[in-house]
Amino acid sequence: MSEIEIPNRKYFRTPATAPGPSGPQMLPAFGAIRRDPLAYLNKIWRSYGDVVQFPIPTPPSYFVSHPDAVKRILVDRPRDYSKATIQYKALSLVTGDGLLTAENPPWKEHRLMLQPAFHPRQLEPLVGQVDQGAAALLKEWERASTGESVDIERAMLRAALETVGHALFSQDLSGDAVELTDATLDALEVVVARARVPISPPAWFPTPANRTLKRANAILDGAVARLIAARQQGSASSTPDVLDLLIAARDSSGAPLSAKEIRDEIVTFIVAGHETVAAALTWCWALLAASPQIQQQVQLEVDSVLTSEHLMLSDLARLPFTRACVDEALRMYPPAWLITRKALADDELAGAKIPAGALVIMSPWIVHRHPDFWVDPDSFVPQRFLDGSVTRHAFIPFGNGLRLCIGRDFAYAEAVALVARIASRFTLSYPEGKSIPAANPSVTMRPIGGLNLLVESRIR
Ligand code: HEM
Repeated sequence: MSEIEIPNRKYFRTPATAPGPSGPQMLPAFGAIRRDPLAYLNKIWRSYGDVVQFPIPTPPSYFVSHPDAVKRILVDRPRDYSKATIQYKALSLVTGDGLLTAENPPWKEHRLMLQPAFHPRQLEPLVGQVDQGAAALLKEWERASTGESVDIERAMLRAALETVGHALFSQDLSGDAVELTDATLDALEVVVARARVPISPPAWFPTPANRTLKRANAILDGAVARLIAARQQGSASSTPDVLDLLIAARDSSGAPLSAKEIRDEIVTFIVAGHETVAAALTWCWALLAASPQIQQQVQLEVDSVLTSEHLMLSDLARLPFTRACVDEALRMYPPAWLITRKALADDELAGAKIPAGALVIMSPWIVHRHPDFWVDPDSFVPQRFLDGSVTRHAFIPFGNGLRLCIGRDFAYAEAVALVARIASRFTLSYPEGKSIPAANPSVTMRPIGGLNLLVESRIR
């Protein structure tokens, strides 16, 4: 990208330290941001480069897109960048102070406490659960396999919620699936709306959005109460799951977690652990359905590996191409498309001075398309993940460093297992005249209008 001059300007008392749009250019941009935030981010990155400053006096706000600068924030200096941003404040209206939004302390104590539930040994039962869930889904599709289209996004949301329920809480959430996924999606819509404007009415004020949030939170709270009650009535899990760890946890003074602390962690896992995975799976199928040859390659690989009735964890390691398709979908449509931090100390990023207190915005959507790191970034090329050409810190669908997603391995196992199971039985394609939907970047990246595909059975 060519050298761009930093204009000699100040935003009230905030000096300009990086190029960016001027105040008058910014006003009409608000509409564009609301209509299509991805196009807007792409445009300002192409116009101004790897560190862009918005003409906002407080907090000084920067959009950072160079993978090295992103690595500095997330990996090299994570303690100098906190999560005290408008994005996480809005999210905490749903998840409270759970692991995703928590600051240190209590973040570290809770992360150490919950880490055992994500130990690799937990992945074997997880794959078994995904396999079982997939069997029910595929049976349903077998009935629909007569040329009608199937709502793939809804199916992936349900499958992902059921997996979270079984794997983290050893309970069947399928009865609550529609209500819980709708409550999650409704709550996240409100979160996004709040995160996009600097001033919102307080959460207690009865606006329609706040009423939606209250209703959604009540549904999530109800699910938490049922999970805890069922555990107290003795439906214990064979190995300690998230629920066991939360109930048994003691802080440094020996006190158990409060009911609110337990509620916040459980809601965090329901919210963070199901919509993201469902989005990754939905986009993976959106891309595979548009690339029949690549889908066929997945089927060939899967057919040679899935020879027994049940899918095992060890099978996943023998599905590198399927895993590469999941990676490439995560690259092109990263469900968590925006990551924000607040700078706690002065710093310098890609040559730009960043003052303490600044808001730093990063987008995996843009980082994953940086031309210095990715060849032909707008094309679906899973092979790039197999030929050793990927620079690790230019691929950040799960974040990076200290606050890396705790559910990353869990998500990979679940996604690869489900893609493999579906590919073994069905070929998915677009109905006549349809193709990959446009992306709507809400809290996660979702297809506008959902994703409806034709499912054709491979077993005749
Ligand atoms: C494809 C699926 C997923 C994606 C793309 C994803 C993405 C992310 C990202 C980007 C972060 C870091 C946010 C930041 O640094 O600001 C994160 C953190 C987190 N994710 Fe995930 N995630 C996925 C699946 C899951 C699953 C399955 C779970 C739980 C079962 C989960 C639970 C969490 C939690 C608790 C955190 C906060 C970790 C911490 O700060 O200690 N995620 N995720």
